[in-house]
Amino acid sequence: MKKQLPELIDLPKIDDPRGNLTFLEEENHIPFRIRRVYWIYDVPGGQTRGGHAFREQQEFIVALSGSFDVVVNQGLDEQRFHLNRSYFGLYVPDGLWRFLDNFSTNSVAMVLSSTFYSEGDYIRDFEEYLRLRNAM
Ligand code: TYD
Repeated sequence: MKKQLPELIDLPKIDDPRGNLTFLEEENHIPFRIRRVYWIYDVPGGQTRGGHAFREQQEFIVALSGSFDVVVNQGLDEQRFHLNRSYFGLYVPDGLWRFLDNFSTNSVAMVLSSTFYSEGDYIRDFEEYLRLRNAM
């Protein structure tokens, strides 16, 4: 794990009276190769998803529809990012604890991941995360 910071990344936006278009390319607009895409949807009001860190996975999170917050913990402090447009997203490097909350009705969170799914990549215990982070 390296100590890197989360970063909001603006994506290309092709304005068009027929409807707007946004795209991204791996290792261009985002700094990794995409191994997996998943999305979170039908989230009941007040729910929280994704309280954990990843040892290796880097990810890019986009609010394809609606809005939600991504909260990233960096050991001592926490940063809250509000995602509410599909033409920007949040890059979360490996090794950071994060969760998603404040979901609006009908929101869709798309997550592009640098790794295939592996339960062994998860750090699900916050105390363990803090110990690993402080040891970095
Ligand atoms: P998880 O990442 O733990 O979601 P959250 O942190 O929001 O609770 O995933 C929930 C479940 O879905 C878990 O049992 C693993 C499974 N899952 C997959 O099988 N493949 C995937 O790509 C993801 C993201 C989750």
